[in-house]
Amino acid sequence: MTAEAGLPDTLRDLPGWAPDAVELADLELLLAGVYRPLTGFLGSFDAAMVIAGGRLADGTPWPVPVTLAVPEELTAHERIVLQDPEGVPLAVLEVAEAWQDPTSQGWRLAGPLEALRSPAHGPFHSLRRRPDELDPVDGPLLAVATREPLHRRQLGQIRQVAERLGAQVLVLPLLSGEHDEWLVRALLGVRKELPDGTRIIPVPLPLRGDAAGHDADRDLLLRAHVAAAYGATHLLAEQEMEGTAIPVVVPEPWAYDADVEVWRPVARIEPDHVQAELTAERLGELLDAGEPVPDWYTPPAVAAELARARPPKHSRGVTVFFTGLSGSGKSTVARGLADALVERGGRTVTLLDGDVVRRMLSAGLTFSKADRDLNIRRIGFVAAEITRHGGVAICAPIAPYAATRAQVRRMVSAAGDFILVHVSTPLEECERRDRKGLYAKARAGLIPEFTGISDPYEVPDDADLTLDTSAMTPDEAVGRVLELLVAGGWLRTE
Ligand code: ADX
Repeated sequence: MTAEAGLPDTLRDLPGWAPDAVELADLELLLAGVYRPLTGFLGSFDAAMVIAGGRLADGTPWPVPVTLAVPEELTAHERIVLQDPEGVPLAVLEVAEAWQDPTSQGWRLAGPLEALRSPAHGPFHSLRRRPDELDPVDGPLLAVATREPLHRRQLGQIRQVAERLGAQVLVLPLLSGEHDEWLVRALLGVRKELPDGTRIIPVPLPLRGDAAGHDADRDLLLRAHVAAAYGATHLLAEQEMEGTAIPVVVPEPWAYDADVEVWRPVARIEPDHVQAELTAERLGELLDAGEPVPDWYTPPAVAAELARARPPKHSRGVTVFFTGLSGSGKSTVARGLADALVERGGRTVTLLDGDVVRRMLSAGLTFSKADRDLNIRRIGFVAAEITRHGGVAICAPIAPYAATRAQVRRMVSAAGDFILVHVSTPLEECERRDRKGLYAKARAGLIPEFTGISDPYEVPDDADLTLDTSAMTPDEAVGRVLELLVAGGWLRTE
């Protein structure tokens, strides 16, 4: 891949690379000066020191390894062009070091960056500001750096803390880069409830997760760095923390006073008038059922965005993903399910059958592991889009690899719900049926890499439903899936 036209001649022949979402966010913050003193992606020594002790090699505190992963081919170049997902060149990386991550063995590139243009991707781009574009604020500035909307409790706490500090307020919605426009809207929607002059500036700062999971302390340290770069003098936080770039302020506990129907500090409420907070679990149940989020808990503008971000289950997008051997009955049950849903009405349905996908979306792919994975990722991509738009996607490929199925589960779950159905019909039965005559050919060595015969099938340990079609009729199998969809709330009872 070579960077596109529009580049200076000297850069046109450089190899291009599109970093992932976290790296793109890091790139934007590096270029905007938000990550100062960092000016580029970290080298091996800095990265190791940061991971081990939260400091760069020169002793400067820095909470998270800001690194850039690339395929090995790219490590041979002196300069590469970093592009956004659409291929627009954003920056030139001057490679100072190519190194291998000691845990994953993956390659990383380190070195200074030269900006080509400001990144123009992501929602609410027009609200974004670089720190040097902001007018300096006289006096204290309280930052609220959040991935969650602000409900009545937090709004009250912010007003209280701001007043106590004599501070202005800066709200930094932290964007994950994927469909979080609703968060910005939910924060813009409560501007009236925040002190006059409150500014709202979205910042790309996805949660960093890896095999070790997400580290809340390091995230708070990073949020303090970002807030400080934007001129904040204090960061509102839910926990005390030492060593932050600016002091964190933990508000005193607030609750809803059911007697006078206002939120206020718990210390000022008669104990038997304290109304229990709506738990995240209860809030989720209300949204799932399509019931209104109570006004005492959150302003209507926030409630509306919550309902849009998490629609009621009966209208939320869902992918039903069948996996199983060839001849196990996946296609028959998937087709029967699609028919049953269309007959009931009220849902839009797309069937992505294995053989049909192979003729259209994946024409030309083989049955090598790489091509099978690509095939399944394509199906996952389409299913995730259908799910995002509130439809029902029914997929029925073999999908023999657990890791690829898990990838699809992740892609779809970011857009809606995912149900894995293992059609567990034993190999002997699939082979006995041999409707397409493929097992006979595979046994005769005419089809290489045939699933179940000469190629692996990894039995799922995360199936939401298992159906053995040697022990039930197709109608019964379809009935079992429908029951699951009704029990889970995705379909209304007839
Ligand atoms: S997957 O492995 O990539 O998920 P997919 O479901 O698309 O497979 O295609 C499987 C169908 O392709 C089978 O139902 C069968 O008809 C046909 N097929 C052809 N060659 C093979 C093979 N080597 N292994 C499995 N199925 C094959």
